[in-house]
Amino acid sequence: MPRTRFVSLGIHVPDRVVTNHDLTKWMETSDEWIQQRTGIKERHWVEGNVGASDLAFEAAKKALAKAGWEAKDVEAIVYATLSPDHNFPGDACFLQAKLGVPGIAALDIRNQCSGFIYGLSVADAWIRSGQFKRVMLVGAEVHSTGLDISTRGRDVSVIFGDGAGVALLEATEEEGMGVLSTHLHADGRYAKDLWTEAPASCMNPRLTHQMLEEGRQYPKMDGQKVFKNAIVRMPEVVREALTKNNLTTRDLKVLIPHQANLRITEMVQRSLELTDEQVFNNIQKYGNTTAASIPICLAEAIEARNVQRGDLVALAAFGAGFTWASALIRW
Ligand code: UT7
Repeated sequence: MPRTRFVSLGIHVPDRVVTNHDLTKWMETSDEWIQQRTGIKERHWVEGNVGASDLAFEAAKKALAKAGWEAKDVEAIVYATLSPDHNFPGDACFLQAKLGVPGIAALDIRNQCSGFIYGLSVADAWIRSGQFKRVMLVGAEVHSTGLDISTRGRDVSVIFGDGAGVALLEATEEEGMGVLSTHLHADGRYAKDLWTEAPASCMNPRLTHQMLEEGRQYPKMDGQKVFKNAIVRMPEVVREALTKNNLTTRDLKVLIPHQANLRITEMVQRSLELTDEQVFNNIQKYGNTTAASIPICLAEAIEARNVQRGDLVALAAFGAGFTWASALIRW
C-alpha cells in the first residue's frame, strides 16, 4: 500500500505587522499582558480586500516552486479553514481557480485548529487507497476582518493572526516512510465554548441589526475551559500516536504543536517530558493562525531544527469543536 510523503511546504503571511503595542490603540490591553499570558509579540493582519484563498495562493506558488511541480501536477486540493472567503462555495474552489487547474477535486475541511491534521488524514487516506497520487493540503485563515477589535473582544482578538501554509503530498512506496498514522477526535458538547454564532442558518433571519449590535458575529471563547482541555488532550493524543507505532517521546525529533498559546505548548512539553530542542514554537511572530498554524510552524521547524530524512516528526492540535488530533511522520 502506498504511503504519503511531504514533498515541500510553502508559507505566506500578509506584509502588515501588528504589534501588541499597536493593539493598545484600539483596546485596553498591554504588551505585558499579551506576552505573559500568550507569548505573542506580533501577528500579521491583511490590509484591504484580501481573502484566505489569496494567502493560500501565494503559499501554494512557493510550495510548487520548491517541489518543482506545476499546478497541473496536483490531482486534488484539501483546504482547511474556518474563515473561507465566502460562506459557500468552499475556499478550495477559489484556490483551484486561482491556480488555473479546473477539473481537479477540491474539498474544504471545517475543523478549526485541528483542520490541517484532519485534512492530512483525508489526503493520506486518498493516497493510501490509490485514488490520488499528488495532493495539495492547505491551511489558511484571515481572522483579522472578523474580530471584535475593541476592549469587548480583547480576550479573543489579541490572539489571532492571518496566514497560510501549503504542503504538497505525494505517494511513496518506501516502507516505513511518510505519514505513519493520524488520530482524530472531537467532543461537540463543547461546541459553544469557542464559536462564532452568527450569521446562523438555524436562525431566521440569519443576521439582524440587533445581533450585529450585540457583537454575535464575532468569535467568542471560554478561554480557561479551552486552555484546561488543550493541556490534557494534546499530550494524550501525542501519546496515542506514539503508542500506536510502538515509539516513545525519545524517538521524536520535533513536535509541532498547534500555536494557540505559548503557555499551552510549554505545559504540553512538560507533560510529555520533551526537551526544548524537541518542540518548535513560532507563535511569538504570528499569533494563532488556526488551520494555518501547523504548516507555518512545520515549515520553519524543518529549517530551524535541520530535520533530515527519516527523522520522526509529530503534529498535534486542539481547538474549537472541541476537536483535537495528532499525526506522526517519518520525514
Ligand atoms: O486555537 C485554540 C483556541 N484557543 C486557545 O487555545 C486559547 C486558550 N485560552 C487562552 O489562551 C487564555 O484563556 C487567554 C489568553 C485567552 C486568556 O488568558 P487567561 O489567563 O485565561 O485570562 P482570563 O480570561 O481569565 O482573564 C483574566 C483577566 C480578566 O480581567 P479580570 O476579570 O481579572 O479583571 C480579563 O478581563 O484579564 C482580562 N483580559 C485582558 N486584559 C488585558 C482578557 N483579555 C485581555 C487583554 N488584555 N487582551
